[in-house]
Amino acid sequence: MAIERTFSIVKPDAVAKNLIGAIYGRFESAGLKIVASKMVHLSREQAEGFYAEHSERPFFKALVDFMTSGPVMVQVLEGEDAVRRNREIMGATNPADALAGTLRADYADSIDENAVHGSDAPESAAREIAYFFSDEEVCPRTR
Ligand code: PPS
Repeated sequence: MAIERTFSIVKPDAVAKNLIGAIYGRFESAGLKIVASKMVHLSREQAEGFYAEHSERPFFKALVDFMTSGPVMVQVLEGEDAVRRNREIMGATNPADALAGTLRADYADSIDENAVHGSDAPESAAREIAYFFSDEEVCPRTR
């Protein structure tokens, strides 16, 4: 299995609960390496652009309101099968459906405030990484 990169967000609810370190620990314990990371407070324009594919969904305004309600951590994770592995660690979108031991089962309160985002495919990962990071901001890990 090739080394792959995926894009991840620790959302405002999890940042507010001081869970950044706990969530980064889950990534690292699962063998995913953090190769880029920063805290940002998204503007409405940034959030609307990031979630543009959902602009016609009924929850779009609530999603943008939430994602701009406080700072988030954005990061690039690298490892074998990183996209799928990160989705496994996160658990289902709705925490009520998330398997025990996943981030959303352990840390999310509702489908509206579900602690983390992770790319759903290598193609979206590449687009999402480029939305937040320049090539120079992503540091290859050789060991
Ligand atoms: S998916 O995988 O794109 O099909 O996921 P989806 O369920 O369509 O959700 C897309 C993102 O919208 C968020 N979401 C919601 N926000 C607020 N209210 C409701 N009801 C709601 N339902 C879904 C969901 O958390 C996804 O955000 P990300 O950041 O991609 O995880």
